[in-house]
Amino acid sequence: MKLLVTGGAGFIGSAVVRQAIAQGHEVVNLDALTYAACLASLAPVADSPAYAFEHANICDGQAVARVLASHRPDIVMHLAAESHVDRSIDGPGAFIETNITGTYVLLEAARAYWTRAGRPAGFRFHHISTDEVFGTLGPEGHFTEDSPYDPRSPYSASKAASDHLVRAWHETYGLPVVLSNCSNNYGPYHFPEKLIPVVILNALAGREIPIYGNGSNIRDWLYVEDHADALLRVAQAGVNGRSYAIGGENERSNLDLVHSICAILDRLRPRAEGPHAALIRFVADRPGHDARYAIDPARIRAELGWRPSVTVEEGLERTVRWYLDNDAWWRPLLSRQGVGRRLGTEPAGPRPEADRGPEPGGAVDTGSGMERGRGRAWNADRNGPQAASSAQGRGAA
Ligand SMILES: NC(=O)c1ccc[n+]([C@@H]2O[C@H](COP(=O)([O-])OP(=O)(O)OC[C@H]3O[C@@H](n4cnc5c(N)ncnc54)[C@H](O)[C@@H]3O)[C@@H](O)[C@H]2O)c1
Repeated sequence: MKLLVTGGAGFIGSAVVRQAIAQGHEVVNLDALTYAACLASLAPVADSPAYAFEHANICDGQAVARVLASHRPDIVMHLAAESHVDRSIDGPGAFIETNITGTYVLLEAARAYWTRAGRPAGFRFHHISTDEVFGTLGPEGHFTEDSPYDPRSPYSASKAASDHLVRAWHETYGLPVVLSNCSNNYGPYHFPEKLIPVVILNALAGREIPIYGNGSNIRDWLYVEDHADALLRVAQAGVNGRSYAIGGENERSNLDLVHSICAILDRLRPRAEGPHAALIRFVADRPGHDARYAIDPARIRAELGWRPSVTVEEGLERTVRWYLDNDAWWRPLLSRQGVGRRLGTEPAGPRPEADRGPEPGGAVDTGSGMERGRGRAWNADRNGPQAASSAQGRGAA
């Protein structure tokens, strides 16, 4: 199969690309290379004849149409998005633009391509989304494919809107689509503004480990390679028009998760000053912080035979070891725009100057002089790994 993957230079997209090529597929990666992109995550496949890269923005209809016409994919897997909840609080405009307008542009380009090709029944537009569109859970219950939409952050609202567009293009135009809504991912190549890499890198540098609120927020953690496996199954074998809820059935409070990471580091990289957990600091909560997410993945298990291959304990151990072994990957990312700052703390009132989001076409800021984030610096010291602040939810994870 030939797959067009949007956002393939991101955390989950790059896992999909690596795994798809390992399975023998051809992959075209279309990515605008925003601050969140990392082409180094594709080093294992960059020289493969089965891999091609197209630097393009999904909001650019002509560019997307050109990529579709020249590569003629069988399946479009749409992962490109602005994905960080804290950034969506500071600057929702980029989320509206990429997640809603970009999805609309991509749907229209896919519809034109599919129509011109004679409406092949085997074509699929796979929209990758999040469980955050369902809002927040109390102590009991799970999200399923039938959960009502109730997004509560600019990020999740923009993803919810994109889900609705994809369903509308299926119902109205007959475009063959599948959707998936997944819980928090973690694993290797995770951008260092998200919770788990923040904890690992701050702990390694002996810096404070910030925890939003009292750390009781619960997330359902899924190892990224298991998500990539699920996505490739949904894209190829999912029932046309159907959505699939994907989760690891690994619920942990943020505080428990951070303690587990600290315990792994105590074993692998003991700290002379004492346990890493002594670095934990509770900080002001994120506005609108969802209390609990949990997924019932019964449909994907029954229909597509998927189940996670690792427990959260195994996945965390692998992840911590990967960060210990791959500082050449994460160190250059610490100087990107906003990394190492507390973002998403000032929700009140319009903030037009902070609402510009990444540059169209994806400028990658590499100097601290370009930082536009307004959150206070978490650490003045920039010599070692910078303390990062964020991501105790996800959009995030
Ligand atoms: N990270 C999670 O835990 C999680 C969980 C469930 C669903 N998701 C969804 O999975 C998808 C991927 O998430 P991620 O964590 O890998 O995100 P990410 O932020 O790591 O990567 C996003 C990628 O999209 C690219 N991109 C952004 N705007 C673009 C545009 N306008 N045109 C083309 N490319 C653009 C970026 O350059 C980057 O490479 C997203 O749609 C997200 O909503 C993420």
